[in-house]
Amino acid sequence: MQITLEQKPLAAIETEALVTYVFDDNEGPQGRAAELDQAAGGLLARLNKSGELTGKSLEITLIHAPAGLKAARLLLIGAGKREQVNGTMLRKIAAVALRYLKSRSVHNFVFAVRENAATESNAQALAEGFVAGDFETDKYKSEKKKDKFVDAVGIAGYSGTEKSAGEKGITRGRIIAEAQNFARDLINEPSNKLTPRILADKAQVMAKEAGLAVEVLDEQKIADLKMGALLSVAQGSVEPPRMIVITYTPPQGTKPGAPVVGLVGKAVTFDTGGISIKPADGMEKMKYDMAGGATMIGIMRALAALKPNVKVICVVPATENMPGGKAQKPGDIQTAMSGKTIEVLNTDAEGRLILADGVHFAKQLGATHLVDAATLTGAIVVALANVNVGVFGSDQAWTDKLLSSAKEAGEKMWQLPMDEEYRDFIKGSFADIQNIGSGKGGGSITGAWFIREFAGDTPWIHLDIAGTAWNDDAKPWLAKGPTGVGLRTLVQLITSL
Ligand code: BES
Ligand code: ZN
Ligand code: ZN
Repeated sequence: MQITLEQKPLAAIETEALVTYVFDDNEGPQGRAAELDQAAGGLLARLNKSGELTGKSLEITLIHAPAGLKAARLLLIGAGKREQVNGTMLRKIAAVALRYLKSRSVHNFVFAVRENAATESNAQALAEGFVAGDFETDKYKSEKKKDKFVDAVGIAGYSGTEKSAGEKGITRGRIIAEAQNFARDLINEPSNKLTPRILADKAQVMAKEAGLAVEVLDEQKIADLKMGALLSVAQGSVEPPRMIVITYTPPQGTKPGAPVVGLVGKAVTFDTGGISIKPADGMEKMKYDMAGGATMIGIMRALAALKPNVKVICVVPATENMPGGKAQKPGDIQTAMSGKTIEVLNTDAEGRLILADGVHFAKQLGATHLVDAATLTGAIVVALANVNVGVFGSDQAWTDKLLSSAKEAGEKMWQLPMDEEYRDFIKGSFADIQNIGSGKGGGSITGAWFIREFAGDTPWIHLDIAGTAWNDDAKPWLAKGPTGVGLRTLVQLITSL
């Protein structure tokens, strides 16, 4: 999809659809809406008066052959309160416009930003909305919706000095959203099409194309390095595990003492629960238990293009969690790469096991600041539903940076507490720690504490994306399926360091 700036006055733009957004302040058409209203002979004011055009959030009004405009259609999208319209709302409106028009076989449109909105970050948000909004999951459908595509989008409203900001925003937004869609494609792959080995191959292909350094450790190397926690999960499957390492080094090099970010992503390509097996109902969704890993790999793809001034090491432990004859059993004691011993009381709490070795390895490779992302707990769905990502941190300054990056990127994230009291829940009876809490409740927090034990003193953030990495019901701005949540925030965090 091509995204370009459009310079003509709104009424003169020839396009299949001219799109803009309107507010619900009942003040009648103003600014750019007044310009459109005048060209169209008072159409907007009339619709507003009749009650058809209210501007309430995501209300859609489609007008065919609007008199006075060169556009074949005029699409007006409600934006709600004028003072609440920001990048987050524009991203959503952009995606709604794209999905609405695409479903009606419209192939190109021009989106006009309103007065005072022609900023770089808004252009970025719009490009993200168009590209991420275009994502579909029809790879394995024989009958593709052949006529449903948009191949060209214009953005109007950037003139003179605003043009270069607009271009920059479009470029950045496209890079980020394409990386997000790359991650979503990986997440959507079923487990028979995406084993740990296949994930590693795909990561390797991406990294080579993007000019990133990549190394994949096979089961032998993983055993040589004594990654006992990862191996314990993998031992129940005939599919061997992989440890994927992708490194981004800034072209200008790094100064000694500069921070090195370690991104660690859980990639369980299928989670049956192992011997502590999950119920059959809904188990098919456990193909997305590698969303954290895929998201981290997608971030590396974006960084290769954005070239920030910070070194980033991405570590993705990849395995299946299966109940095979060689599977680990409740009560088994494993030794992690760090040397800590772990009592595995529930084989379904496997994400924290593979992250234990992932986090330790990332530190060993030189990471000074860690972020992990994982579909770690069902409990996070109880706490935050599918709305917020659960955030846990060992260092408030580092966590605050993440939270402000999330705000800027328009991703909802909420910090949960990490009091020492919760740490007691995972003290082991027969080993150093146990992989589930013995207290009641706090399941997401004890999961986070388990990983933190391996981060030690290194500033560390854990993102529990179990509730947010998969969208169960299609929304006007979002396809059903993988969301790629976390990618935009972490790209923002890294590029702002
Ligand atoms: N992959 C699951 C968590 C999950 C649940 C992801 C729902 C997406 C949607 C994880 O490995 C798991 O099974 N966690 C257990 C932990 C428990 C045994 C302490 C859980 O949440 O039930
Ligand atoms: Zn599990
Ligand atoms: Zn899992």
